[in-house]
Amino acid sequence: MKIDVYYTPLGLSAGDLTGRGVVVIDVLRAGSTLVTALAAGAKAVVPASSSEEAVRLTANLEKDGIVLAGERRMLKVEGFGLGNSPREMTREAVGGKTVYLATTNGTPALVAVQGGDPVLVAAALNFSAAAERARAVFLERGDLVIVCAGREKQFALEDAYTAGRLIKAVKKGARKLNLNDAAQVALDLAAQQGGWRDAFAASDAARQLVEAGLGEDVTFCAQPDRVTVVPVYAERRITA
Ligand code: MLT
Repeated sequence: MKIDVYYTPLGLSAGDLTGRGVVVIDVLRAGSTLVTALAAGAKAVVPASSSEEAVRLTANLEKDGIVLAGERRMLKVEGFGLGNSPREMTREAVGGKTVYLATTNGTPALVAVQGGDPVLVAAALNFSAAAERARAVFLERGDLVIVCAGREKQFALEDAYTAGRLIKAVKKGARKLNLNDAAQVALDLAAQQGGWRDAFAASDAARQLVEAGLGEDVTFCAQPDRVTVVPVYAERRITA
């Protein structure tokens, strides 16, 4: 049985994911934002590789049914209805709507993992539900890929920590487990760090969010099992 971790989608080659179960992680913040949007009743989230693409994808759509959301350097994109804060994803703001989300790292990572089947999204916020679903895929297939969004094409501590916790939850009872080096290190990292809050707070992403006045988002994203929704990404749409 095999679990592979990629710390960023950059290492993926065409075909690497074809037909494999995939879990995408971007806990600070895109993954947490879309989990929260779906839990708040959004119809779907459509990840865009850039804010320009989000605008293009929505150009001919009825404006009532959609919300443009996203960030550039952590702050709301000019002209968009919402930023990339999970705290903005309330029922009033996104209920019944399709959210077109464009972020620096998270949504491009989602666009990059097309081909996986299924593609799930895990965060602290939905951790137990996502881990249970990922474990079912792993036990059925004997194989799982975890793709971290990372940050600016680099390793991101908060995503790797979440990957490590996910491996620990998913591998229970697995025989002859084969982890790639990144998966082994993620598992060790999760064992060494404290809980969600400490691990997230130790990351560069958290420091930058605090500096941008968005420290409350870090605290919000570090709440485990706030919701039970498991986002599934298929045909360019993420649904609950
Ligand atoms: C991203 O996808 O790049 C992150 O979610 C950045 C952010 O915190 O807004």
